[in-house]
Amino acid sequence: MARPKNDTFLRALMRQPVEYTPLWLMRQAGRYLPEYCETRKRAGSFLQLCKNKDLATEVTLQPLARYDLDAAILFSDILTVPDAMGLGLYFSEGEGPRFERPLREEWAIRDLAVPDPYGPLRYVMDAVSEIRRALDGSVPLIGFTGSPFTLACYMVEGGSSDDYRRVKTMLYERPDLLHHILNVTAQSVVAYLNAQIESGAQAVMIFDSWGGVLAHDAYQEFSLAYIRQILDGLIREKDGEKIPAIVFTKGGGLWLESIADSGCDAVGLDWTVDIGSARARVGHKVALQGNLDPSILFASPEVVAREAKKVVDSYGHGTGHVFNLGHGISQYTSPEVVTALVKAVHEHSRQYHQAAA
Ligand code: CP3
Repeated sequence: MARPKNDTFLRALMRQPVEYTPLWLMRQAGRYLPEYCETRKRAGSFLQLCKNKDLATEVTLQPLARYDLDAAILFSDILTVPDAMGLGLYFSEGEGPRFERPLREEWAIRDLAVPDPYGPLRYVMDAVSEIRRALDGSVPLIGFTGSPFTLACYMVEGGSSDDYRRVKTMLYERPDLLHHILNVTAQSVVAYLNAQIESGAQAVMIFDSWGGVLAHDAYQEFSLAYIRQILDGLIREKDGEKIPAIVFTKGGGLWLESIADSGCDAVGLDWTVDIGSARARVGHKVALQGNLDPSILFASPEVVAREAKKVVDSYGHGTGHVFNLGHGISQYTSPEVVTALVKAVHEHSRQYHQAAA
């Protein structure tokens, strides 16, 4: 498979010369776009949208039609894996994701098995192949998964949580049980991501959205160790092209050095760290992705452009930066400010790159 026409994103991840700083946005296909809401309505629900390859392809491409983004991300969800493990995912209006059968009993935990990515998760692989075909070599396609710890949070809590009481109780009372969940989940995720790569994903991202709620030692033992296990098992090259892997631990700023040592190619940053300081700490090892506070997008296009330029300036000269938000774009964002954001990043960053194409 040939490199996409615009491979700026892949080059920046591999810290090869680029002409400008590439960008994409976490949750770039989402409810802030009226066309997304329209397609979601047609699908009937968010899950049906994920499970229909034509509609999933349609929404994946919507932000790319509107904005000059440098990558596409598979439209799906991290919770497809525990759903395929039999937990019964559903979304109730205003409540976010929930599981019908959260992991509360030891026998249920001992019964967990690795789902076949071409069995109950086949719809994800079908979407990946369909999106790759539709992109037709324009920009790279990112595949993704949740980290084992982040998935375990949802699997044990049964949904979103304010205090992670159940999963943290298990962590301290029955670490053996949590380790078992994390082990089976890590194996599931390796098979799942490798199948996405086989189906056409050109880079992969591991979302560790809740790793940042852990204590220092617990983060290493219960989150990062399993991220490392995934990275060790991933296909890292396909058809002669490297498949870069990005690790994003929200709230992981204190642990950047150990994340950069996990075997990933790039580290995703939330908005709490200064990207220039992060670069000084780990930029000789990995690329960095981030890290504008998504709340800045509630401000005017002028303010958005000013703040985006600050992130670009803070990173400074040379490759190794993929611009993004520090977390997903809010549904209350006005689609117009994103136009200003993309323009500011692309134009302002050129002065920092002198690469010949
Ligand atoms: O980035 C993208 O555009 C790709 C698609 C994507 C979605 N979810 C679509 C989605 C990705 C990469 C995710 C990952 C995901 N899902 C994470 C990790 C990233 C993060 O945000 O920290 C997590 C924790 C989830 C679990 C999840 N899925 C939650 C908590 C919710 C509810 C959030 C909300 O805004 O209501 C979802 C649903 C979801 N996943 C939506 C989208 C576009 C909103 C669904 C809708 O249309 O109602």
